[in-house]
Amino acid sequence: MATIRETLDQLISDALSQVSGIADCQAILVPASRPEFGDYQANGVMSIAKQLKKNPRELAAAVCDRLESGELVDHFEVAGPGFINIHLSDNWLASRATALLDNQAELVQQTARPETIVVDYSSPNLAKEMHVGHLRGTIIGDSLVRILERLGHQVIRQNHVGDWGTQFGMLLAYLQQVSDDLDSLSTELEDLEAFYRAAKEKFDADPEFANQARNSVVRLQGGDEQSLMLWHRFIEESLRHCEAVYDKLQIRMRRSDLRAESFYNDSLPGIISELEKQDLLTVSQGASCVFLPEFQGKENEPLPLIVQKSDGGYLYATTDLAAIRFRATELAAERVLYVVDARQGLHFQQVFAVARAAGFVAPECRLEHVAYGTMMGKDGKPFKTRSGGLIKLIDLLDEAVRRAFDLVSARSPELDEETRREIADKVGIGAVKYADLSKNRTSDYVFDWDSMLALDGNTAPYLLYAYTRIRSILRRQEDGAEASITATSAIAITTAEERQLIVKLLRLPEILQTVATDYYPSHLCTYLFELAGLFMRFYEACPILKAEPPVRASRLALARFTAATLSEGLDLLGLETLEQM
Ligand code: ARG
Repeated sequence: MATIRETLDQLISDALSQVSGIADCQAILVPASRPEFGDYQANGVMSIAKQLKKNPRELAAAVCDRLESGELVDHFEVAGPGFINIHLSDNWLASRATALLDNQAELVQQTARPETIVVDYSSPNLAKEMHVGHLRGTIIGDSLVRILERLGHQVIRQNHVGDWGTQFGMLLAYLQQVSDDLDSLSTELEDLEAFYRAAKEKFDADPEFANQARNSVVRLQGGDEQSLMLWHRFIEESLRHCEAVYDKLQIRMRRSDLRAESFYNDSLPGIISELEKQDLLTVSQGASCVFLPEFQGKENEPLPLIVQKSDGGYLYATTDLAAIRFRATELAAERVLYVVDARQGLHFQQVFAVARAAGFVAPECRLEHVAYGTMMGKDGKPFKTRSGGLIKLIDLLDEAVRRAFDLVSARSPELDEETRREIADKVGIGAVKYADLSKNRTSDYVFDWDSMLALDGNTAPYLLYAYTRIRSILRRQEDGAEASITATSAIAITTAEERQLIVKLLRLPEILQTVATDYYPSHLCTYLFELAGLFMRFYEACPILKAEPPVRASRLALARFTAATLSEGLDLLGLETLEQM
């Protein structure tokens, strides 16, 4: 089923084409900026008028004449330099809201064209502990996956973890030095970060050890059984660390979603020979490179994508070429999203271009780098510990929960400890996730405890609290004598506040459509924040429990609808709601 915006778009685009005689005109619909201006506004008339050298207001008037008000639209009007304001019909709004209330599965409309979409997200490097650099991709990717799935797409998650390469030789060599007994491995790797640091220090300081590390890589890559077994154990241990983070963050990433870099090892020689066969390879200083004319450096020098080093070793890019081919062919992806740090932008542009040039992906398959900015500390520098090290993700999340617990305890000391802990879990984790999701994805983002945990503003605590308030209104009603009144209720519009709230509630499907197109979950955050604000305004202006029975039932139904929409939206962001806070 079409969203309201799509229906209006079609209606007005057609009328504009008929009146102007230009095929395929675009109505360009946006929500109205103020209630006086109606509910939606069409901005497409101006550019068509310009093309035809006509007065835009006159053209807009002619389009309005052609448009008939019907069930959906009460009236159209010309505004400003040639906008068309659209006022929806109260009856239609009320009956649509009532219909949805009885059928909450339809709160989100399914896409008319389901696609197979591969989403590569989180994808940490297993040599080290997950750190804050992986937080954004993990959170944003998970929300996008939830939204795309909810819209009816077939989503395939791919956790492209880094589990191969020279670092692993170093780690295995170090592991063999510090313990020759495999059973103590878990203990050794308990603090993966410290382990990595120690290995690296030794590697840099001790040439003999560096030599052993290099031999260890050779043995590993040569398929030596003992080395492979040790490597497996290491990877297993490191994955358990990641999974602890996923659990804490409530990230829906499973073992079956794992497709590590090493998975592609056997297909790497084939990638090189295929590029060669297609005359795309150039040897430059011993390394095999692909030069494409569209990639140039600062001095217009050609910029290569290196796919094989002079010693025969493969690179990050080679694996990505193999992965892209696998996704496009074996997984039959129609779209592939890479939720990865913006600093890898050039890498992906090059990989996408080479993959297309080599025919690894069909032209109609969409490839998108869903880039995100760097996480900064309050001082404006990349987020680090006081001593300058990277903060472990797991520690950061524990701190979020601790801080939330202190806040809840200060605010609601009457709640028993278990309840406060439960609240702190959801609020603390929710705050970290929401702070990230609500910011502009592509900008760098300042991590700030105080603002993410604030009870007012566009934050998780504010939204979670708004939800608990609505739930408590509903509970009070249900406890009352006339509980049956909520069962069958028709939503009616008697005030401007009710009307505005309904128009907003009915917009959820278009918001999700937008996120599924441009991959900015912040649209959904802004929407939920505004929705909660409109509910509060409605609640202040329109008495619920004291109203006459039919109005009261309608208002309670609106409260229920708002609660359902908030919980749906928060779930799609990966946040869990609470009944009290
Ligand atoms: N492991 C990489 C990192 O930590 C991210 C991998 C992203 N995905 C990809 N297909 N390259 O930076």
